[in-house]
Amino acid sequence: MSGPRKLFIKTYGCQMNVYDSERMAEALGGQGYVATDTPDDADMILLNTCHIREKAAEKVYSELGRYKGLKAANPDLKIGVTGCVAQAEGQEIIRRQPMVDLVVGPQSYHRLPEMEARLKAGERVVDTDMPEEDKFAHLKGRGTARRAPTAFLTVQEGCDKFCSFCVVPYTRGAEVSRPADRVLAEARALVEAGVREITLLGQNVNAYHGHAGGLAGLIRALADIDGLERIRYTTSHPNDMDDALIAAHGEVEKLMPYLHLPVQSGSDRILKAMNRKHTAESYLRLIERVRDARPDLHLSGDFIVGFPGETEADFEDTMTILREAGYGTAFSFRYSPRPGTPAAERAGQVAPDVAAERLARLQARITEQQRALQDAMVGREVSVLFEKPGRLPGQMVGKSEYLHAVHVDASEIAPGTIAPVVLLASAPNSLSGRIIA
Ligand code: SAH
Ligand code: SF4
Ligand code: F3S
Repeated sequence: MSGPRKLFIKTYGCQMNVYDSERMAEALGGQGYVATDTPDDADMILLNTCHIREKAAEKVYSELGRYKGLKAANPDLKIGVTGCVAQAEGQEIIRRQPMVDLVVGPQSYHRLPEMEARLKAGERVVDTDMPEEDKFAHLKGRGTARRAPTAFLTVQEGCDKFCSFCVVPYTRGAEVSRPADRVLAEARALVEAGVREITLLGQNVNAYHGHAGGLAGLIRALADIDGLERIRYTTSHPNDMDDALIAAHGEVEKLMPYLHLPVQSGSDRILKAMNRKHTAESYLRLIERVRDARPDLHLSGDFIVGFPGETEADFEDTMTILREAGYGTAFSFRYSPRPGTPAAERAGQVAPDVAAERLARLQARITEQQRALQDAMVGREVSVLFEKPGRLPGQMVGKSEYLHAVHVDASEIAPGTIAPVVLLASAPNSLSGRIIA
């Protein structure tokens, strides 16, 4: 039988996986696959996985279990595991779950078309090579189909930082930057297809060196693209916030006043044990410099609670830096020991109930602080990029420059429109306002 075959991709983990899933669908599009949003009638299912915490990794096996019936009903169904669990566990995945046909690590997606041919011939394929090449150089170009007004664009892959808790340097490999000309060409194609805002992605995006001027140089070059209105980037490491990038926050109008800059802990002892190579004080000074360049900057961060050796006093330092840095948004996680990382082997593992209790305290404080800063937006004027209809009839929702979700009653506004909005009320996860004529 001919006709398009159906591809279902389920994506876990970070935004880089979201981007990769899209690129994989494009690569397999050349093999006659079209995307479907349900596994039920799929000819191929890919789970694009995350290994960052144990819970994330274990989800894969429970999800695979759900496909048993589908595979029994359709023996031609191909099931694949891609992403960071694929890289970390390789062949082991097939041993634990024999119905898996394909295991592919994040740096091998450009070989998917060949792999697909081998699968069709009845082979099982495991590919976790980490070639010293840029997978994106070999992936076919982006389609020209109309797109949502916002898009991700990966510019940097991998990490050389080796924080002692983190699997990313092992699952994504060494830092690689994509050449600026390719990034710019892709950005132009996205803008042609209707994109107004691009978020540049990398596990360490501010270590980008594919442009002579670093990430700041790339941002300035992107800002010259007509029709591209907003630029964001994530995730950054404090040690790679150079002067040029800080200056760009003050000078490049299209660069949004939002910075996700994880600190992980407020305790210098713990930061040292994490191999972060910055202190709480140096981090706070850095934030001050970025705010000097862009006073209305909205700061976001990540925290790990219950890292081996963390005492109550260390945890209090984390509570303190949360307040002192003035985060408008923050994500916090209970430390999860990851196989192969140095911290997993250390003495002083914090008891799960102690860590859970600290996490609850931190999260309560984060919610409070987030809400207070969001409430303080009421009465202010922001600029909103509208993305889609809201939950209630007649509503449109979008994001402010600070990444707050904002809804207005104005169904005639087209997605992709940017309009000034005066904020009138603050709800737990969004603001509402009125478009200023
Ligand atoms: N490159 C980014 C973070 C990538 S992982 C950076 O350096 O900031 C996203 C977040 O997951 C991290 O910031 C950290 O807070 C959290 N994380 C990573 N490994 C973890 C682990 N073993 N246990 C709990 N949280 C972890
Ligand atoms: Fe992981 Fe640290 Fe690299 Fe971020 S900088 S990806 S936390 S090793
Ligand atoms: Fe997860 Fe891999 Fe991203 S471990 S957070 S999917 S880089």
